[in-house]
Amino acid sequence: MSFDRFMTENLPLSRSLEPHVDRMRATHLRNLLSNEPDRFARFSRVQCGLLLDWSKEKLDQGAWQSLLELAVEKGVEDARDSMLRGDRVNTTEDRAVLHTALRGGAWAPPHIQEEIAAEKARFLGFAEHVRSGAIAANDGAPFEHVVNIGIGGSDLGPAMAVRALAPFCDGPTIHFLSNVDGAHAADVLAKLDPKRTLVLVASKTFTTLETLTNAQTARAWLAETLGDDQVGQHLAALSTNAAATAKFGIQEDRVFGFWDYVGGRYSLWSAIGLPLALAIGADRFNAFLAGAHAMDVHFANAPLADNLPAILALIGVWRRNALGLVGHAVIPYEERLARFPAYLQQMDMESNGKRVTTDGSQAIDATGMLVFGEPGTNAQHSFFQLFHQGHDVIALDVLIGRRVVGEAVNGRASIHHTHLMANALAQTRALALGRTLEETRAEMARDGIAVDEIERLAPHRTFPGDRPSTTLVYDQLDPETLGKLIALYEHKVFVESVLWGINAFDQWGVELGKQLAKQITPALADPRLAAAFDPSTRGLIEALLQKDD
Ligand code: F6P
Repeated sequence: MSFDRFMTENLPLSRSLEPHVDRMRATHLRNLLSNEPDRFARFSRVQCGLLLDWSKEKLDQGAWQSLLELAVEKGVEDARDSMLRGDRVNTTEDRAVLHTALRGGAWAPPHIQEEIAAEKARFLGFAEHVRSGAIAANDGAPFEHVVNIGIGGSDLGPAMAVRALAPFCDGPTIHFLSNVDGAHAADVLAKLDPKRTLVLVASKTFTTLETLTNAQTARAWLAETLGDDQVGQHLAALSTNAAATAKFGIQEDRVFGFWDYVGGRYSLWSAIGLPLALAIGADRFNAFLAGAHAMDVHFANAPLADNLPAILALIGVWRRNALGLVGHAVIPYEERLARFPAYLQQMDMESNGKRVTTDGSQAIDATGMLVFGEPGTNAQHSFFQLFHQGHDVIALDVLIGRRVVGEAVNGRASIHHTHLMANALAQTRALALGRTLEETRAEMARDGIAVDEIERLAPHRTFPGDRPSTTLVYDQLDPETLGKLIALYEHKVFVESVLWGINAFDQWGVELGKQLAKQITPALADPRLAAAFDPSTRGLIEALLQKDD
């Protein structure tokens, strides 16, 4: 079966890749793996405590060499250096991009390093005082619960990390409230006692409708039990907008800031990480930052051929532009990384979901991929069917640890982990190799199945294979490793944006919907205003406002 059957029409990223495209589309991964016994050695690297194996990607040495040349041609190293030293690489917002400085990047200007260190000392000090009980509820007893109210980058990172690092969480229990759906506020707050709860309002801009609506609701919830004048002791804010937090009534010493050179989806390392610091404590939070910094140092110094973020990005453009793939599944074989795909979804799709290049012209190459995922093995029992036998090819990143943190029930950790590893390896192998019609027939015959039945069922039980995957192996999911994994993907997304010539750091695409929601809100109170909208929107407004008989 030809791989072309699965391809969308696409323009290769660069003429330099063109000579390889037809050859690689026509070469089954099964052949690459059987004809190249040294593939693993050639297409894997151990760097920064992580093993990256891309030997099951659909490319050969010639294609790989051209990809490395493409990275040079597109100036990846210069772009990286420019970002790290604080040039205004976010050109549409005229901002520097310095989330790397939050984790110790000595490349950033000294005054920036100083303001970061001072604010970090403040928010980590606050975290430690809440954990020790020195900062307490209005009745003097310690806080037992923390509700983080935020959305997008002010929610996904801390929510993902608190879950990922559950065995290291020994502070108050952290809850996350993001959706403007009142049911979310009701469900989160209903089970908590306001007397024992600290509320964090996390919003870079402090203008986000969802967060401000939830914050008002939570304040009213606190005030009802504590009284209006006591609410301040149960509130803190994480924001770049000091004027707005003051207007909201949060006292200055309870506001932890960051700066416009930290993008929302890159802000977990700043005060936005406070929920994580409250959960795991300052030392572990610092280990988390150190892990990310180790990846930054690797990214800054390693030659492209050994540079993990650059390698992942080159695989990304190969998948997208040479193979024409659209779907990118991230499958962590680690239940505690359940929210990692959702976190990467924002990081990747909000960064690279662009079709205009930095100079304002239309991108000729396809950019960005549809990122999604769930932990293995659960994902195997839901959407993997399409991966194995569906019409479209989905590229896969599999993440797996060599060890699990902590003990499983009844000391059975190693039994569980062996099954987990076996499944991760089996899936990528099955996706790459597939099973031919002849192999399927032979296997069914061996199982004693009647000839008629074999002919009837064999096509259904055949697997085309030739589906690429990359596997990432880490030692164990601890704060340092999590920091490395996140920074790895952050830089991967950045390098892809350089290769595609787009700005990874703005997000104008989210604006139009926000504007229209503001216009529609009054029409939901006064349906006569709906007359201004298109017939579909008008009809839906009427339907939503229909009274029960
Ligand atoms: O709407 C998208 C977005 O601006 C994200 O980029 C951001 O992470 C999220 O909204 C939340 O923004 P804020 O932290 O300013 O409330």
